[in-house]
Amino acid sequence: MVKILVTGSSGQLGTVLTKELQKKYGINNVIASDLIIKPTFKGISEILDVTNIDALEKVVLQYKITQIYHLAAILSAKGEINPLRTWDINMKTLFNVLEVSRLHNIKKIFHPSSIAVFGDEIEKINTPQAPNLTPLTVYGMSKTAGENWVNYYHKKYGMDIRSIRYPGVIGYQSLPGGGTTDYAVEIYHKAVKEENFDCFLEASTMLPMIFMDDVISATIQLMEAPSENIKIRTSYNLAGMSFTPEQVYESIKKIYPDFKINYQPDFRQDIANSWPDSIDDSAAKRHWGWKPRYDLDEMTNVMIEKLKEYYHLEIKI
Ligand code: SER
Repeated sequence: MVKILVTGSSGQLGTVLTKELQKKYGINNVIASDLIIKPTFKGISEILDVTNIDALEKVVLQYKITQIYHLAAILSAKGEINPLRTWDINMKTLFNVLEVSRLHNIKKIFHPSSIAVFGDEIEKINTPQAPNLTPLTVYGMSKTAGENWVNYYHKKYGMDIRSIRYPGVIGYQSLPGGGTTDYAVEIYHKAVKEENFDCFLEASTMLPMIFMDDVISATIQLMEAPSENIKIRTSYNLAGMSFTPEQVYESIKKIYPDFKINYQPDFRQDIANSWPDSIDDSAAKRHWGWKPRYDLDEMTNVMIEKLKEYYHLEIKI
């Protein structure tokens, strides 16, 4: 019997992944948890602060949890506002998940990592799986340390923990909060609302990105792969597509020819400059059959169609 706990279930990824897990394993077998649960959420949920190990343990025991997807974290840009607090929260929540899982024999754990683990010492094009990791942000440092901690728990205690280094995630279902790649979601909302867009990155800043449908498939594919196929226990590189703000703008202009963009780079430019242009994800392809489906124009079409429906509904209400 699978009983899944999702932490950070109200976040950009959590919102969509929780629904998908409910579809796959049954609505009563997924427990959503976060500091705030949206009133529109359907299913079983708990208000949970994962920095509190006793509260986490209580939920794990109450629902006889067998798997944890630990999505709660403070992202790259927001994390820079209070670096020490970001480190504390990101590491404490991970340690609590690892320890409660060790003590209560949790069968599988998912720990998301990020392109933020990469820093100035990488080859920026087709960044390999295992370069020297010198992240520039506290978020990136916490993910780099987290990758090593999950590898340690796997080796020392035999725990089945799996991880992906997510690129910037773009979806219509939810908004990101506090990341450097967030512009690539906001730009679509502005286009559909027929407003101008102020971009906080320069026109030519190439970053690895991925469409939400692809990221959900990748996560579930990784978690369902036979354990012996998971040969990397720190975290897998994963790629969807790579583009610049100018390229996504051009893609949107095919549908909204009057759409306008202004470039006003801020502190997030330095963070973006330290990240790869593109990612070598051949290990994920070889080991567990990863294959992305969406390119930029296909994603643009779906984003615009779905956001048009969304804003239409909003207006009706
Ligand atoms: N999207 C994340 C961020 O920008 C990267 O993991 O912080």
